[in-house]
Amino acid sequence: MQRSYIVLLLLGFVHAMLQNYTVDETSPNIFYSGYTFPCNTTTCGVFTKGLFNKSVSLTFGSIKFNFTGSAFYAALDLFGVCSISVDGNELGVLNATLAEDIASEGLPISKPDLANGPHTLVIAPTTPGTIIGFDHLIYTAVSPDKKHHVGAIVGGVIGGIVLTIGVFFIVLHARRRNLILRRNQRKSAVLRGITLARHDYKVGADYGTGLPM
Ligand SMILES: *[C@@H]1O[C@H](CO)[C@@H](O)[C@H](O)[C@H]1NC(C)=O
Ligand SMILES: *[C@@H]1O[C@H](CO)[C@@H](O)[C@H](O)[C@H]1NC(C)=O
Ligand SMILES: *[C@@H]1O[C@H](CO)[C@@H](O)[C@H](O)[C@H]1NC(C)=O
Ligand SMILES: *[C@@H]1O[C@H](CO)[C@@H](O)[C@H](O)[C@H]1NC(C)=O
Ligand SMILES: *[C@@H]1O[C@H](CO)[C@@H](O)[C@H](O)[C@H]1NC(C)=O
Repeated sequence: MQRSYIVLLLLGFVHAMLQNYTVDETSPNIFYSGYTFPCNTTTCGVFTKGLFNKSVSLTFGSIKFNFTGSAFYAALDLFGVCSISVDGNELGVLNATLAEDIASEGLPISKPDLANGPHTLVIAPTTPGTIIGFDHLIYTAVSPDKKHHVGAIVGGVIGGIVLTIGVFFIVLHARRRNLILRRNQRKSAVLRGITLARHDYKVGADYGTGLPM
Protein backbone atom coordinates (compact mmCIF):
# COMPACT_ATOMS: atom_id res chain seq x y z
CA MET A 1 0.00 0.00 0.00
CA GLN A 2 2.80 2.38 0.95
CA ARG A 3 4.63 1.66 -2.32
CA SER A 4 1.62 2.58 -4.48
CA TYR A 5 1.28 5.80 -2.50
CA ILE A 6 4.87 6.67 -3.42
CA VAL A 7 4.24 5.88 -7.13
CA LEU A 8 1.13 8.12 -7.10
CA LEU A 9 3.13 10.86 -5.43
CA LEU A 10 5.85 10.70 -8.11
CA LEU A 11 3.26 10.75 -10.91
CA GLY A 12 1.72 13.89 -9.45
CA PHE A 13 5.16 15.41 -9.10
CA VAL A 14 6.06 14.80 -12.78
CA HIS A 15 2.65 15.99 -13.98
CA ALA A 16 2.98 19.26 -12.08
CA MET A 17 6.17 20.08 -13.98
CA LEU A 18 4.73 19.60 -17.50
CA GLN A 19 3.59 22.73 -19.23
CA ASN A 20 2.08 23.65 -22.58
CA TYR A 21 3.70 26.37 -24.67
CA THR A 22 1.77 27.99 -27.50
CA VAL A 23 3.75 29.28 -30.48
CA ASP A 24 2.12 31.59 -32.99
CA GLU A 25 3.01 30.87 -36.63
CA THR A 26 4.63 34.33 -36.81
CA SER A 27 7.26 33.23 -34.26
CA PRO A 28 10.89 33.55 -35.47
CA ASN A 29 11.42 29.96 -34.24
CA ILE A 30 9.31 28.60 -37.09
CA PHE A 31 11.14 28.18 -40.38
CA TYR A 32 9.40 28.38 -43.72
CA SER A 33 11.21 27.01 -46.78
CA GLY A 34 9.31 29.27 -49.16
CA TYR A 35 7.43 32.49 -49.41
CA THR A 36 4.71 33.11 -46.80
CA PHE A 37 1.71 35.32 -47.07
CA PRO A 38 0.84 36.76 -43.65
CA CYS A 39 -2.90 36.73 -43.24
CA ASN A 40 -3.79 39.00 -40.34
CA THR A 41 -6.44 41.60 -39.51
CA THR A 42 -4.66 44.13 -41.77
CA THR A 43 -4.22 41.86 -44.80
CA CYS A 44 -7.18 39.47 -44.49
CA GLY A 45 -9.64 41.32 -42.27
CA VAL A 46 -12.56 39.32 -40.90
CA PHE A 47 -11.17 36.01 -42.23
CA THR A 48 -8.76 35.93 -39.31
CA LYS A 49 -11.55 35.74 -36.74
CA GLY A 50 -11.21 32.70 -34.49
CA LEU A 51 -7.55 32.18 -35.28
CA PHE A 52 -4.91 32.16 -32.61
CA ASN A 53 -3.55 35.72 -32.35
CA LYS A 54 -5.82 36.60 -35.29
CA SER A 55 -3.26 35.46 -37.86
CA VAL A 56 -2.44 32.59 -40.21
CA SER A 57 0.48 32.21 -42.61
CA LEU A 58 -0.19 30.83 -46.08
CA THR A 59 2.66 28.99 -47.76
CA PHE A 60 3.42 26.65 -50.67
CA GLY A 61 6.60 25.48 -48.92
CA SER A 62 7.43 23.38 -45.89
CA ILE A 63 7.30 24.37 -42.22
CA LYS A 64 9.94 23.34 -39.73
CA PHE A 65 9.98 23.69 -35.96
CA ASN A 66 12.52 22.48 -33.41
CA PHE A 67 11.37 21.97 -29.84
CA THR A 68 12.33 20.09 -26.71
CA GLY A 69 9.39 18.32 -25.16
CA SER A 70 7.13 15.28 -25.16
CA ALA A 71 4.09 16.29 -27.23
CA PHE A 72 2.87 18.68 -29.88
CA TYR A 73 -0.47 19.88 -31.22
CA ALA A 74 -0.60 21.87 -34.46
CA ALA A 75 -3.53 23.73 -36.00
CA LEU A 76 -3.50 24.33 -39.74
CA ASP A 77 -5.69 24.79 -42.76
CA LEU A 78 -4.89 22.81 -45.86
CA PHE A 79 -5.77 22.74 -49.53
CA GLY A 80 -3.99 19.76 -51.10
CA VAL A 81 -1.78 17.07 -49.60
CA CYS A 82 0.96 17.36 -47.00
CA SER A 83 3.02 15.00 -44.87
CA ILE A 84 3.70 15.41 -41.16
CA SER A 85 6.95 14.02 -39.81
CA VAL A 86 8.87 14.13 -36.56
CA ASP A 87 12.62 13.46 -36.49
CA GLY A 88 12.44 12.14 -40.05
CA ASN A 89 9.64 9.63 -39.33
CA GLU A 90 6.40 10.28 -41.14
CA LEU A 91 3.42 10.38 -38.75
CA GLY A 92 0.85 10.66 -41.51
CA VAL A 93 -0.36 12.31 -44.69
CA LEU A 94 -3.17 14.84 -44.74
CA ASN A 95 -5.30 15.27 -47.82
CA ALA A 96 -8.01 17.91 -47.88
CA THR A 97 -10.05 19.69 -50.47
CA LEU A 98 -10.97 23.29 -49.82
CA ALA A 99 -14.56 22.23 -49.06
CA GLU A 100 -13.43 19.61 -46.51
CA ASP A 101 -11.09 22.09 -44.92
CA ILE A 102 -13.78 24.73 -44.54
CA ALA A 103 -16.18 22.12 -43.16
CA SER A 104 -13.71 20.91 -40.53
CA GLU A 105 -12.60 24.42 -39.48
CA GLY A 106 -8.92 23.55 -39.53
CA LEU A 107 -7.10 20.27 -39.05
CA PRO A 108 -5.78 19.42 -35.63
CA ILE A 109 -2.58 17.43 -35.79
CA SER A 110 -1.13 15.94 -32.66
CA LYS A 111 1.37 13.51 -31.25
CA PRO A 112 0.95 13.39 -27.48
CA ASP A 113 3.32 10.52 -26.69
CA LEU A 114 6.81 11.48 -27.87
CA ALA A 115 9.89 10.59 -25.87
CA ASN A 116 10.85 13.67 -23.85
CA GLY A 117 13.73 15.38 -25.66
CA PRO A 118 14.63 17.49 -28.70
CA HIS A 119 12.47 16.98 -31.78
CA THR A 120 12.13 18.40 -35.28
CA LEU A 121 8.63 18.73 -36.68
CA VAL A 122 8.29 19.07 -40.46
CA ILE A 123 5.04 19.79 -42.27
CA ALA A 124 5.73 19.52 -46.00
CA PRO A 125 3.48 19.70 -49.07
CA THR A 126 3.71 16.55 -51.19
CA THR A 127 1.79 17.65 -54.29
CA PRO A 128 2.33 20.82 -56.31
CA GLY A 129 -0.23 23.51 -55.72
CA THR A 130 -0.78 22.53 -52.08
CA ILE A 131 -1.38 25.51 -49.81
CA ILE A 132 -0.85 25.25 -46.06
CA GLY A 133 -2.41 27.85 -43.80
CA PHE A 134 -0.51 27.56 -40.55
CA ASP A 135 -2.17 29.02 -37.45
CA HIS A 136 -0.25 27.94 -34.34
CA LEU A 137 1.20 25.03 -32.46
CA ILE A 138 1.43 23.91 -28.88
CA TYR A 139 4.17 21.78 -27.42
CA THR A 140 4.42 20.18 -24.01
CA ALA A 141 7.68 20.46 -22.13
CA VAL A 142 9.07 20.12 -18.64
CA SER A 143 8.78 23.54 -17.09
CA PRO A 144 12.15 25.32 -16.71
CA ASP A 145 10.45 27.78 -14.35
CA LYS A 146 12.18 27.66 -10.94
CA LYS A 147 9.00 28.70 -9.13
CA HIS A 148 7.20 25.73 -10.66
CA HIS A 149 9.96 23.39 -9.52
CA VAL A 150 9.90 24.80 -6.02
CA GLY A 151 6.09 24.67 -6.00
CA ALA A 152 6.11 21.06 -7.19
CA ILE A 153 8.78 20.07 -4.68
CA VAL A 154 7.05 21.82 -1.78
CA GLY A 155 3.73 20.32 -2.91
CA GLY A 156 5.35 16.90 -3.21
CA VAL A 157 6.98 17.14 0.21
CA ILE A 158 3.81 18.35 1.94
CA GLY A 159 1.80 15.68 0.10
CA GLY A 160 4.38 13.10 1.19
CA ILE A 161 4.22 14.18 4.83
CA VAL A 162 0.41 14.14 4.82
CA LEU A 163 0.39 10.69 3.23
CA THR A 164 3.02 9.37 5.62
CA ILE A 165 1.03 10.64 8.60
CA GLY A 166 -2.09 9.06 7.06
CA VAL A 167 -0.36 5.71 6.65
CA PHE A 168 1.09 5.98 10.16
CA PHE A 169 -2.37 6.57 11.66
CA ILE A 170 -3.92 3.74 9.66
CA VAL A 171 -1.20 1.34 10.83
CA LEU A 172 -1.47 2.63 14.40
CA HIS A 173 -5.25 2.31 14.33
CA ALA A 174 -5.05 -1.23 12.95
CA ARG A 175 -2.52 -2.19 15.63
CA ARG A 176 -4.58 -0.59 18.36
CA ARG A 177 -7.67 -2.42 17.15
CA ASN A 178 -5.73 -5.68 17.10
CA LEU A 179 -4.41 -5.01 20.61
CA ILE A 180 -7.90 -4.19 21.92
CA LEU A 181 -9.30 -7.26 20.22
CA ARG A 182 -6.61 -9.45 21.69
CA ARG A 183 -6.94 -7.85 25.11
CA ASN A 184 -10.71 -8.33 24.99
CA GLN A 185 -10.20 -11.92 23.92
CA ARG A 186 -7.78 -12.44 26.74
CA LYS A 187 -10.13 -10.69 29.16
CA SER A 188 -13.07 -12.83 28.10
CA ALA A 189 -10.89 -15.91 28.28
CA VAL A 190 -9.91 -14.95 31.83
CA LEU A 191 -13.54 -14.21 32.71
CA ARG A 192 -14.61 -17.51 31.23
CA GLY A 193 -11.84 -19.17 33.24
CA ILE A 194 -13.03 -17.45 36.41
CA THR A 195 -16.64 -18.34 35.70
CA LEU A 196 -15.73 -21.93 35.00
CA ALA A 197 -13.56 -22.08 38.12
CA ARG A 198 -16.35 -20.57 40.20
CA HIS A 199 -18.77 -22.96 38.60
CA ASP A 200 -16.51 -25.90 39.45
CA TYR A 201 -15.99 -24.51 42.92
CA LYS A 202 -19.72 -24.05 43.44
CA VAL A 203 -20.43 -27.45 41.99
CA GLY A 204 -17.80 -28.78 44.30
CA ALA A 205 -19.02 -26.75 47.27
CA ASP A 206 -22.64 -27.42 46.68
CA TYR A 207 -22.04 -31.00 45.99
CA GLY A 208 -24.62 -33.03 47.79
CA THR A 209 -26.74 -30.14 49.00
CA GLY A 210 -29.03 -30.15 45.92
CA LEU A 211 -29.36 -26.35 46.02
CA PRO A 212 -29.81 -24.53 42.70
CA MET A 213 -26.73 -22.62 41.54
C1 LIG B 1 -1.63 20.60 -23.55
O1 LIG B 1 -2.63 20.89 -24.52
C2 LIG B 1 -3.29 19.77 -25.04
C3 LIG B 1 -4.23 20.20 -26.14
O2 LIG B 1 -4.95 21.34 -25.81
C4 LIG B 1 -4.02 19.04 -23.89
O3 LIG B 1 -4.69 17.89 -24.37
C5 LIG B 1 -2.99 18.63 -22.83
O4 LIG B 1 -3.63 18.01 -21.73
C6 LIG B 1 -2.21 19.84 -22.36
N1 LIG B 1 -1.15 19.40 -21.45
C7 LIG B 1 -0.81 20.07 -20.33
C8 LIG B 1 0.33 19.51 -19.54
O5 LIG B 1 -1.38 21.10 -19.98
C1 LIG C 1 0.65 38.08 -31.98
O1 LIG C 1 0.86 38.85 -33.15
C2 LIG C 1 1.62 40.06 -32.95
C3 LIG C 1 1.63 40.85 -34.24
O2 LIG C 1 1.92 40.02 -35.34
C4 LIG C 1 3.03 39.67 -32.45
O3 LIG C 1 3.79 40.81 -32.22
C5 LIG C 1 2.89 38.87 -31.16
O4 LIG C 1 4.16 38.42 -30.74
C6 LIG C 1 1.98 37.66 -31.38
N1 LIG C 1 1.74 36.99 -30.11
C7 LIG C 1 2.15 35.72 -29.87
C8 LIG C 1 1.76 35.16 -28.54
O5 LIG C 1 2.79 35.08 -30.67
C1 LIG D 1 -0.05 42.03 -40.79
O1 LIG D 1 1.09 41.56 -41.54
C2 LIG D 1 1.79 42.64 -42.18
C3 LIG D 1 2.88 42.00 -43.02
O2 LIG D 1 3.73 41.15 -42.26
C4 LIG D 1 2.34 43.58 -41.14
O3 LIG D 1 3.03 44.67 -41.75
C5 LIG D 1 1.20 44.13 -40.28
O4 LIG D 1 1.70 44.90 -39.21
C6 LIG D 1 0.39 42.96 -39.68
N1 LIG D 1 -0.78 43.48 -38.97
C7 LIG D 1 -1.11 43.09 -37.74
C8 LIG D 1 -2.34 43.67 -37.15
O5 LIG D 1 -0.44 42.28 -37.10
C1 LIG E 1 16.67 21.64 -35.86
O1 LIG E 1 17.09 20.32 -35.45
C2 LIG E 1 17.77 19.59 -36.47
C3 LIG E 1 18.02 18.20 -35.93
O2 LIG E 1 18.60 18.23 -34.67
C4 LIG E 1 19.06 20.33 -36.87
O3 LIG E 1 19.72 19.62 -37.91
C5 LIG E 1 18.72 21.74 -37.33
O4 LIG E 1 19.89 22.48 -37.59
C6 LIG E 1 17.88 22.48 -36.27
N1 LIG E 1 17.46 23.76 -36.82
C7 LIG E 1 17.48 24.87 -36.11
C8 LIG E 1 17.09 26.09 -36.84
O5 LIG E 1 17.83 24.90 -34.95
C1 LIG F 1 -6.43 13.23 -52.10
O1 LIG F 1 -7.87 13.18 -52.14
C2 LIG F 1 -8.37 13.35 -53.47
C3 LIG F 1 -9.88 13.41 -53.39
O2 LIG F 1 -10.37 12.85 -52.22
C4 LIG F 1 -7.87 12.20 -54.34
O3 LIG F 1 -8.36 12.35 -55.68
C5 LIG F 1 -6.34 12.16 -54.36
O4 LIG F 1 -5.88 11.04 -55.06
C6 LIG F 1 -5.78 12.12 -52.91
N1 LIG F 1 -4.35 12.25 -52.99
C7 LIG F 1 -3.51 11.52 -52.22
C8 LIG F 1 -2.05 11.76 -52.42
O5 LIG F 1 -3.91 10.73 -51.37
